[in-house]
Amino acid sequence: MLTRINKFIADSGIASRRKAEEYIQQGRVTVNDKVIDKLSFRIDPDKDVVKVDGEIIRAKRHVYYLLNKPKGFISSTKDEKGRATVIDLIKTKEKVFPVGRLDYNTTGVLLLTNDGDFSNLLMHPKSKVPRIYHAKLNRELEEKDKLKLLKGVFIDGKRGKFINIKFPKHNDKKLVEVECYEGRNHFVKNMFSALGYTVKNLNRYSFAGIKADIQVGEYRKLTEAEVKNIIKMYSKNIRRN
Ligand code: URA
Repeated sequence: MLTRINKFIADSGIASRRKAEEYIQQGRVTVNDKVIDKLSFRIDPDKDVVKVDGEIIRAKRHVYYLLNKPKGFISSTKDEKGRATVIDLIKTKEKVFPVGRLDYNTTGVLLLTNDGDFSNLLMHPKSKVPRIYHAKLNRELEEKDKLKLLKGVFIDGKRGKFINIKFPKHNDKKLVEVECYEGRNHFVKNMFSALGYTVKNLNRYSFAGIKADIQVGEYRKLTEAEVKNIIKMYSKNIRRN
């Protein structure tokens, strides 16, 4: 995957992106032994040799995982109470972190990466990343409440709404599929709770178009095509919004 030279240098950990730009402008950066002066210059980290002041720069390899999160794990890198975290489930030397969070007892699609830009892109409200959840409620969802949830309800003083609501099993109105663009903590539970429902069970069925095609508790690397598609799609949304 091609990457911008300033990002490549910053990702290697030797300088911030701004500092990397300074190095480029000062003529201290070479690609395959040619001085480059364009900040937008793109390199292929698998082929090109980048040097700063004559020293070879090795980029941090970015990794991207899909985890089908089981219940009983915290979506963070550490927990003060010593509870198990999603990081305990991924066997990698890279310092990965979850993209956003799922509650302790929520299952389903969680992405993990060591790429801060990727995570920021997906968490940015303007990216409009779709999240689809399956929520098991304490009682059947009434039609009037379905309409309210689609129109918008106030949670913590801010309006939130689902963009789509379906019943995946037509004979079970307690099992509801909801789609939203929101990444606020406890968003789904709070939306239902605003109308007097309790979410008994919550599963994230898909995130950014990625579905959990593996067993609960398992993980896999995202394919290069999946990563590329995500970056392309949501960078476009950011520019548009
Ligand atoms: N909304 C919630 O209420 N919980 C989650 O884990 C994710 C979204």
